[in-house]
Order: sequence, then structure tokens, then C-alpha cells
Amino acid sequence: MSHIGSYESRLPNFNWAISEEELGYTPGGKINIGWYCTDRICEMGKAQKKALIWEDYQGNTKTYTFDDLRVYSNKVAQFMLKTGSQPGQRICLFMDRIPELYISFLGVLKMGGIVQPLFSAFRDESLFTRLNNAGTTAIITQKKLLPVVRKIRDQLPELKYVIVPDAGDAALREGEIPFVMEEGPRVERFDVYPSTAETPSVLHYTSGTTGQPKGAQHVHYSLIAQYLTTKWVLDLREDDIYWCNADPGWVTGTSYGIIGPWSNGVTQFVLDSGFNAERWYSVMAKHRVTVWYSAPTAIRLLMKEGIELVRKHDLSSLRHLASVGEPLNAEAVIWSQEAFGKPFHDTYWQTETGCIVVSNYPGMPVKPGSMGKPFPGITAAVLDVKTHEPITVPGKVGLIALKPGWPSMIRGYWNNAKGYANKFRNGWYLTGDRSSIDKEGYFWFVGRDDDVINTGGHLVGPFEIESALLEHPAVAESAAVAKPDRVNMEVVKAFIALKPGFEPSDDLDLEIMNFIRKKLSPLAMPQEIEFVKSLPKTRSGKIMRRVLRAQEFGEPIGDISTLEND
Ligand code: PRX
Repeated sequence: MSHIGSYESRLPNFNWAISEEELGYTPGGKINIGWYCTDRICEMGKAQKKALIWEDYQGNTKTYTFDDLRVYSNKVAQFMLKTGSQPGQRICLFMDRIPELYISFLGVLKMGGIVQPLFSAFRDESLFTRLNNAGTTAIITQKKLLPVVRKIRDQLPELKYVIVPDAGDAALREGEIPFVMEEGPRVERFDVYPSTAETPSVLHYTSGTTGQPKGAQHVHYSLIAQYLTTKWVLDLREDDIYWCNADPGWVTGTSYGIIGPWSNGVTQFVLDSGFNAERWYSVMAKHRVTVWYSAPTAIRLLMKEGIELVRKHDLSSLRHLASVGEPLNAEAVIWSQEAFGKPFHDTYWQTETGCIVVSNYPGMPVKPGSMGKPFPGITAAVLDVKTHEPITVPGKVGLIALKPGWPSMIRGYWNNAKGYANKFRNGWYLTGDRSSIDKEGYFWFVGRDDDVINTGGHLVGPFEIESALLEHPAVAESAAVAKPDRVNMEVVKAFIALKPGFEPSDDLDLEIMNFIRKKLSPLAMPQEIEFVKSLPKTRSGKIMRRVLRAQEFGEPIGDISTLEND
């Protein structure tokens, strides 16, 4: 049994006011996530408590107290205002997982800016699309990423300030401003922007089937859901050392890698380094990590390295394990029970939901392979594909849908009212995923209901890849679809019809892969290219990715009555 009460005991009379009261928030009053994660924790007597234990790929470690978070985020906030940024402007964070990333996130919120975190592996075209859509006015980045920013700067007239926290003695260009967070006077006092519940906070870009990535727009009130779900689902307690594997370029890294743990006043560990099984176990043993929020791809990679490696480390500090981002297969849950003596608890949610909506709770029996049950306060159902009415038959597959209105639901897609309106049917928000519900109320994930590719827990939109492919001189038309993969669950496969005068070859294959890696990111790079004479299309000329995807997965193709060229 967990300290927060059983799932069943929490269901009746649930009210988000529980969270509001714990946070001392009065409806209609001020609420600023940056303040809640720093000043408030200090006011609660935890100023000298460790907030962040940070380690880089070389093993260098830095530690920050909640008071450090407070004064450094004040400094970021003050600096942004002084250099000309204003509340309501979109300020992009484009950095590796360095301390400045975490602290700038809070600092920008404190000055009323809208934080736009972007994954540091993005290259110019991916970066451009998102900055252009958001009308971003400032970007905080690293010296090593300046070449990417410089490449697109001229095409972004609204982008006025490029802030560089690690500039050192680098030769900066006009509009590039050095910022040193940790030297110079401390900024003890800063008048935090008086944001209220509906003030925009975070803008996360996420991929859909159609069009370029959409900016999922969150508000400060999201804290109410992020705080409570962190406490109840991730089971964070006063003395925990919490480790979230996710990068803040994605929603898990902000909702549960910044806002959740710090608004709970909990110490978190951050590793600014890629995957390495030996290293991961070592850092968990060294820092005595107690709660670990990971992802299926990472768990599958750990499984490949075997249980002997686990046994070489003292992981006795681990108390609770959770996972998110992709289907957590039953074998992974069973393996973790054997390897760590505890199961990974699957949690399900999305950029748009802002918080965990379906999950396995501490203390609730885990059914390996199931995502668990809706969080109290979340009404989740599976809907009939045609009628959009909830399915009441246990085991029958339908569309996962949520009743709108929980605190951290996005308030819209940036500049895209139509895209947002499209997510609703019959009074329900459609997640775009399919699942069934068993007779005990557990959800069983089946798959996505669209063409989005989930590679290693990262969503990649086919349209973004296909648009970039078309810029290659040899490509006449293309389709990007998911292909099954043992570790990453899915990888990108591109079907390409070449322009006259171009012949398929291994060299061209590699060239196109690299072309995408350099334009977009390693995630979007096709792992396989198949050259074809033409692509399956509907009579109206729309490429039917569904047919190609089904072929890759060895699944029935379904209704192809609208197919043009068969
Ligand atoms: O398809 C679902 C999958 O990831 C999507 C959300 O991705 P994103 O918005 O990037 O947010 C990722 C982190 C919350 C979902 O629509 N997904 C997420 N969690 C699970 C999952 N699929 C299966 N099981 C999960 N636990």
C-alpha cells in the first residue's frame, strides 16, 4: 500500500481541489509554475535541500539546491526582460540536458514568457518549422548548436535574440548575446509575472498525420494535474532521489522531469548523456536513485544486456519503477520483476494531455501488458469507430477518448484552430490511439489510429519527412511509414519513386538517409528505403500510407476500394 492511499479509496469524490489545496492555490488567484517549483519550496523551509544532482557524459557532477534554482531562475528571468523579451512571447530552449536548460525553463515562466522546448538533436529544417510556426522571438541555445541556428536565422525575422549561456570566448554575431548563469551577483528578488490559471506556459511541438508538427499549448493551471499525478502515480516522497530518463525537448521531460518533481519539492537526478546500460546502473547505485521513470525502448535495451549486469550493481535503493511513451510489453514487466524485484508500472498519456491519464498505480495489482486504469478525475473510454459512443463490451477495441476538462489538457494548437477542433467527436477528446478495456477496467493498448510513427517513444510525423524528402533532387514522390523494430518498436521506412534520369543504388540510398538526418534529425532518418515505380494512391490522389504500413507489419490491408492504381 502506498502512502497516498489505494486507487479505490481515491476514486469516490475525487476533486482536483485536493491538489489546489495542497498547493495553496486559490481559484482565480495567481499561479506561476516557475514560482511553485522554486520560491514556494524555499518558503516551505527546503531552501537548502538538493533539487538537482546533475552529471554529464564525462562524469562531472554539479549539485543545485532549491535556493540555487530560485536565484538562478530569477537571474534568467531578469536577463530575458533586460535584453528585451516580454511576457507572452515564445522563447525557445534548444539545449542538451545542461543545468541551464532546466533553470531557464523556470526562469522564462517566471517572467511570463511561453517556453518552447525543442530537442537538441533537431537540425535546421525541424528547428525552422517550429520556430516559424510559433513566431519565436528568442532562443536560448548552446555554442555548439549555433551553426544550426545561424543557418535559419535570416528566414526568421521575428527571432530577435539568441542567448548563449556557454559562449566563453566564442566570436558571437549580431543579436547573439552571452549569458553567464552562475557567475556574478545572485538575484535574490524578482517580481514573478502574475500569471493566472489560463496564462500560456509551455508550447510543445508534436507530430500528427497531416501537416507540419503542431504546437500543443499548455497553461500554468496544468500544474494542478502534474503535481498530483507525480505524487500519486510516480509515488514521489520527501526523501526520494528521482530519475526521469526523458529529455525536456519532449513532454515527459517537462511535466515529469521538471514541473512534477520540483513542485513536490523532490530531489532529482539528471544524466546528460545517452544510453549505456553499465553507466545507467552505476549512476543509479552511486546516487541511490529511488524512483525511476523510464521508457520501453530503454528497458528493451537493458534486457538485451542481461540480468548479470544488473546483479553487479547495488540497486537496493530502487523503490518504484514506471514507464511511458510506447507499449510496455508484458515480457519487460516480467523481466523487471526478476531483475529489480519490482515491476515497471506502465503509464499512458500524450503531449496534449499534459499529465498521466491512464496508469498502473503503486499498490494496484499490475497486469503485465496493460496500461492500467484512468487517473481519478479523468474520464476515459474507448469509443466505437463509427458512432463515437463508448464501447461497453469488455475486450472490444475502440478509440481511446477522454472527457475534456482536466487541468493540464492543452488549450489549443498554436495557430491551428482547425487541427484542434478535429480532435473532438461527440463531446470526447480523441487521443488517436486504440485500445480495449477488460472487465476489471484495465486498458490494453492496441496501436495508433493514424499514420504517426512512434520510434523509441518519439513521435515522428510522416508529412514532415515526406516534405523534406521532396527537397532531394532525385525524389519524385515518397511515403514515410512505420516499420516494426525489435528495440525501437518502430522505425521510419521511406518508399520513394525517383524522378526520370535517376536509378536506385546503394549510394543514393545512403545519400537520402543522410539528407534527412542533416535536415531534420536522426529520429526522422529512414532506416530503410525502398525504391518503387509508383505509390498506392486513392482516386483523389492521396498516398495511402496505410497500405504500405500494413505490408511492413504483415497485417491485412483493409478496405482498399478507393485505391486508384490496383
Ligand atoms: O501513441 C501513444 C504513445 O505515445 C503517444 C504520445 O506521444 P507524445 O505526445 O510524444 O507523448 C509521449 C509521452 C507522454 C500516445 O498517443 N504512448 C504513450 N504512452 C504509451 C503509449 N503507447 C502505449 N503505451 C503507453 N504507455
